[in-house]
Amino acid sequence: MKEIDWNSLGFHYTEPDYIVRAACHEGVWEEPYATKDKYLHLHVSATCLQYGQEAFEGLKAFRGIDGKIRLFRWRENAKRLQQSAKGLFMTPVPEEVFGKAIGLALEKNLDFVPPYGTGATLYFRPLLIGTTPRLGVGPGRDFEFIVIPSPIGPYYPGKFHCTTFLVNRYVDRAAPFGTGQLKVGGNYASSFRATEAAHAMGCDCLFLDAKQHKYIDECSAANFIGIKRPTPAPSLKGGESQIEYLTPRSSAILPSITNDSLMTLAREMGLKVTRRRIRLEELAEMSEAAACGTACVISPIDKVIDTEKNRTYSFGDEPGPVLTKLYHALRDIQFGRTEDKYGWTEIVDQTTSRQAR
Ligand SMILES: Cc1ncc(COP(=O)(O)O)c(C=O)c1O
Repeated sequence: MKEIDWNSLGFHYTEPDYIVRAACHEGVWEEPYATKDKYLHLHVSATCLQYGQEAFEGLKAFRGIDGKIRLFRWRENAKRLQQSAKGLFMTPVPEEVFGKAIGLALEKNLDFVPPYGTGATLYFRPLLIGTTPRLGVGPGRDFEFIVIPSPIGPYYPGKFHCTTFLVNRYVDRAAPFGTGQLKVGGNYASSFRATEAAHAMGCDCLFLDAKQHKYIDECSAANFIGIKRPTPAPSLKGGESQIEYLTPRSSAILPSITNDSLMTLAREMGLKVTRRRIRLEELAEMSEAAACGTACVISPIDKVIDTEKNRTYSFGDEPGPVLTKLYHALRDIQFGRTEDKYGWTEIVDQTTSRQAR
């Protein structure tokens, strides 16, 4: 185990021993290999640099209560990267290559998997870039797939706490038929102006649909979830079917693997799960709201501030009961504290360091 103060790790990059790389030429992917070299020898005219031909992913390995290491739904990340690749006219990384690269990155950095009980995890950042030198506008035909591991701290080092969101109408993250459903760098670079302005005010940024600025799209780099319950509130025992888990349907948002998992768990708890367009004003009818994604699982929202309309939607200063229950249900599966009925986790054999397959 590395000499790392696991308890003080944030969501920052910690240099691993190895990264993993694989190149693709003429549509053929080479075997992934591990290297200590964290620098690329890249042509200055590579399509990733010139035209943003780049896509990425984010997933985690968890050291469970039983000491075993679990990868969470990595095949879903592999599929999503394939969608992103197709969207940017890149050669998709086959699931087998993706799995081998993640397995090798884990095997070579086993000492960076944080101990159970710290809440920290080993995060993997798979990255796909276009490397063909080109000056004329157009896609390249050569690619490099890289997996960068880094141990990261728990999103909530202390208590599970709330975040305030600021409604943004002056920077659109992604167009309705643009690249919003893909995890490509351009979406993030183009949202920095809005997210940094929100951060400067101690908030995060709530993106609305780019066409009408009427419906909720996404929360910074996470999906939105709202909980609606009739008044008076039904109990969490027996009254679940009257409680609704609401999440936006939009062609401009990333299909979150965490949201998908939470929807399954919500249905299992008996909640009504609805995915549809959600008007911003509907926030007033919600008792709980949150952002969800791999990094935080669930990040409860205390307030959404709409400065332009001079309106604030409040959900209380403490995380609500429904979202708290969902948060723990998913964390328990990820850390092996409860049965994984859905086969979401894959235990990695540490004695033989077998690769994820
Ligand atoms: C824009 C955006 N939306 C949603 C998510 C959440 O997706 P996931 O749950 O797969 O991490 C992310 C993070 O990957 C993201 O960057």
